[in-house]
Amino acid sequence: MRRSITVRLVAMFALAALLTFTLIGAALYGVLRGELMRYEQDELRTNLQGLRYYIEGTGDLARWARVTNKMDSLSPANGGVRFWVLSGDPRYTYGKNLPVMARMHTGPDGWGTILLPQRQLPFHTLSTHIAAYQGRPAMQFIVGIDSAPFAHTLRTFLTALAVLCLGAVLGVMLLGYWITRMGLRPLERLSSEAKALRPKSLSQRLNVAQLPAELSTLTIAFNGALSRQQDAYRQLEAFNADVAHELRTPLTNLIGGTQVALSRQRTAAQFEETLQSNLEELERVRSIINDMLFLARADQGEAATGLVRTPIAQEVRKTTEFFEFVLDDLGATVSIEGDVAVEAMIETALFRRAMSNLLQNAIEHSSAGAKLLVTIRQQLSSIWVTVSNPGEPIDPAHLPRLFDRFYRIDAARQPQGEHHGHGLGLAIVKAVASMHGGGVSASSAQGQTTIGFSVPVAPLHFT
Ligand SMILES: Nc1ncnc2c1ncn2[C@@H]1O[C@H](COP(=O)(O)OP(=O)(O)OP(=O)(O)O)[C@@H](O)[C@H]1O
Ligand SMILES: [Mg+2]
Repeated sequence: MRRSITVRLVAMFALAALLTFTLIGAALYGVLRGELMRYEQDELRTNLQGLRYYIEGTGDLARWARVTNKMDSLSPANGGVRFWVLSGDPRYTYGKNLPVMARMHTGPDGWGTILLPQRQLPFHTLSTHIAAYQGRPAMQFIVGIDSAPFAHTLRTFLTALAVLCLGAVLGVMLLGYWITRMGLRPLERLSSEAKALRPKSLSQRLNVAQLPAELSTLTIAFNGALSRQQDAYRQLEAFNADVAHELRTPLTNLIGGTQVALSRQRTAAQFEETLQSNLEELERVRSIINDMLFLARADQGEAATGLVRTPIAQEVRKTTEFFEFVLDDLGATVSIEGDVAVEAMIETALFRRAMSNLLQNAIEHSSAGAKLLVTIRQQLSSIWVTVSNPGEPIDPAHLPRLFDRFYRIDAARQPQGEHHGHGLGLAIVKAVASMHGGGVSASSAQGQTTIGFSVPVAPLHFT
């Protein structure tokens, strides 16, 4: 079962209240008990001292009779305070249960307790010896006070205390429940807001304004997650639209071409021509799909495998050789500069793919006779390979988006039907870089456009 914060807090409140009240109760009980004992002792002492003075001055039976009268009158009817006088002469004795008293009280003077027959609680006593005087023998004088009323008071107090304590704990629990519910209300509001979120309402955010500090951090973090989710969702939607759009053009061409071919009688040569142009379109579709599959694999975190220590300049040169004819047609040249001796850890097929995408772009965007430049530069543990070509500067607003899928600066300006890229070339460069744990860069200034990526440098050889 989930543990509820409310239940936990209420339990803790109750425990804290119980502990506090128990401590206070114990202290009060101690104080009351001490006070009652002091009262008992004062009572005993006053009675003893008052009568002792009388008894000491008593030397004959006539005066003794007055002393016993005095003791009678001082004994309350309920028997709460009692007097006993023990002596060798039965005429000079006083009090009930004398044989019991004689058995118990032969000890020294001072405080004591005694349990009388048919009593559940003892009497507290104070006794003193009084020396013989004239005809009166030596005697022991004892004052006793019933402890029952005091015990009763203490018991009543304890019961009241326990009831009050339980009531108070119950009150604290109810109050604690209410306080906790109040305190957690923002949380409830938050979860009902969160429950209302739907994929369609991804632009909605949780309301941070009236939240307590403890919750606002969490909520801000949650809102951040929502933003990222929204971006990803938007990208996915845009990507789907782009894919559909990119595939539609070649398919339209295919269907159109085929319909025209079928519209009337054709010679074998004419059909062959149609099939040839269909094949081109189909290859275009295949290349888009292959590129997308490649990007999807990179997205899933596939890393470059079979990394090989490779002299990077040599690999660049091999790639440029593929473009020899195009370069010759254009009258353009490619030179390689920088740290030409460095070696990188790369998967060669991937590296060449990225490199040729960069070269292709550079060639496409330069005019006849252009001088292209490939620069190799080591920076810490990365090797940056960049391709520069002279050309119209790119608006800085476009630069960070060049590596997005299907992103083309001049897509709108490109005439329909004419061959143009699908905007996946640089996305693949970025994927290749990230498969090697590297990054990408793009800049455009002073008539030079420079786009590149990085791969890890090969560790030093120790021979
Ligand atoms: N060297 C460059 N000079 C100027 N613009 C460039 C250069 N390289 C890329 N771009 C711009 O960046 C866009 C994206 O390039 P990318 O290689 O991703 O796509 P593409 O070349 O249009 O198509 P693809 O490479 O898939 O055939 C291009 O459409 C172009 O507008
Ligand atoms: Mg390209």
